[in-house]
Amino acid sequence: MIPTRVIEAKRSGERISTEDLEAFLSGFLDGAIPDYQMSAFLMAAYFMGLDEAETEVMVRSMLGSGSKLDLGHLDGPRVDKHSTGGVGDKVSLVLAPLAAEVGLFVPMMSGRGLGHTTGTLDKLEAIPGFRTRIPLDEFERILSEVGCAMIGQTEEIAPLDRKLYALRDVTGTVPVIPLIAASIMSKKLAEDLTGLLLDVKVGAGAFIPEEDRAQELATTMVSVGERRGLATVALLTAMDRPLGRAVGNALETAEAIRCLRGEGPDDLRRLTIVEAAEMLTLGAPDVSSEEAEKRATEALDSGRAFERFMRLVEAQGGDTGVAAHPERLSTAARSAVVTASRAGFVTGVSPRALGEGVVALGGGRVRMDQTLDLGVGFEVAVALGDRIERGQPLGTVYARDEAGVREGCTVLEGAITLGEEGPSEARPLVSHRITRDGSYPFG
Ligand code: URA
Repeated sequence: MIPTRVIEAKRSGERISTEDLEAFLSGFLDGAIPDYQMSAFLMAAYFMGLDEAETEVMVRSMLGSGSKLDLGHLDGPRVDKHSTGGVGDKVSLVLAPLAAEVGLFVPMMSGRGLGHTTGTLDKLEAIPGFRTRIPLDEFERILSEVGCAMIGQTEEIAPLDRKLYALRDVTGTVPVIPLIAASIMSKKLAEDLTGLLLDVKVGAGAFIPEEDRAQELATTMVSVGERRGLATVALLTAMDRPLGRAVGNALETAEAIRCLRGEGPDDLRRLTIVEAAEMLTLGAPDVSSEEAEKRATEALDSGRAFERFMRLVEAQGGDTGVAAHPERLSTAARSAVVTASRAGFVTGVSPRALGEGVVALGGGRVRMDQTLDLGVGFEVAVALGDRIERGQPLGTVYARDEAGVREGCTVLEGAITLGEEGPSEARPLVSHRITRDGSYPFG
């Protein structure tokens, strides 16, 4: 394999042979291929794409570069969910204990927030003491005892993806669908699952806003999973507005706990039940969708999922006293209510403006090594289509100081659009279900 030839071939749109691509990737992992050559290859892939066979080599090389969990001894289906990330997306915190409660093992490996989206690990760490870095043997013990465990990607999982992602991040080559699919799926395949649900967000606040590209990503990831014998389903879900009312780490954790206690909000509750039911039918194909949804609803409404969450918090070292009283999670020093300067209908709640607002307040990252202020963010008091009177609260800003409050108020006011009539259309909460057989409207 001659590295310059691989780069030139991709630049001309040629397919790279399996042997050459494998050698190129392993050379990059061990340092023989320098960053500048891999950057040139990635940029060529950005313009020319990768076909199915090349994507398969990517997945195999990333997965094979690290270790894989071995969870075959667990007596039940092992199903996880991965979200491509959105603003206010705190589903995982409610879903992991709920899916465990309906009989699944959920070995959840999540990420940290980057850019305008927050991450599950940061939200969990808003609970004092909650440990997201635990040795794999302890992770497996908690998983078998509690039914779910939640940690970050360890050093041992897919190191090639880690090294490639760091380079993609600084060379403008993240948005390449086959690369994203390989990156996400290599980490999920390392979890030794029997089923995987993918929540692919669509809309202005999503990592990939356009529906056709989100469909393509979902289809590619489903094919990668199914080709390797992993039952995989993707849902396209709305990110043209934030999910729920809370945006910002501790505020989102508090909202997730309230949802586990049966206090909504409706969209978060509905999406979590739909996803738990999908996970159950992935793990137990003999259970009908209706029955799966009934079991998930019952497990949430009975308080059993909340109890399971408390067991998880305790097992991972979190303060159960705080988790039981989510109002204690809000640690921001300052807050202010923003009111409407005029009457009208809410025609837009910009997820991106709010997500970027959290970063500006110190609660999100632009670089992976940043420490966050977990308490800052927004509670939005209005939803799309609401009729608002002048002076009515639009939401609350939580910040670390007065300058942050002023900045947050400007962000919140700018994020909410008021018009003379209700919004023309909002995306359905779940619009499509993508399986190995194709993409179908949901519901
Ligand atoms: N998330 C990942 O894990 N990888 C990507 O390439 C993009 C998003």
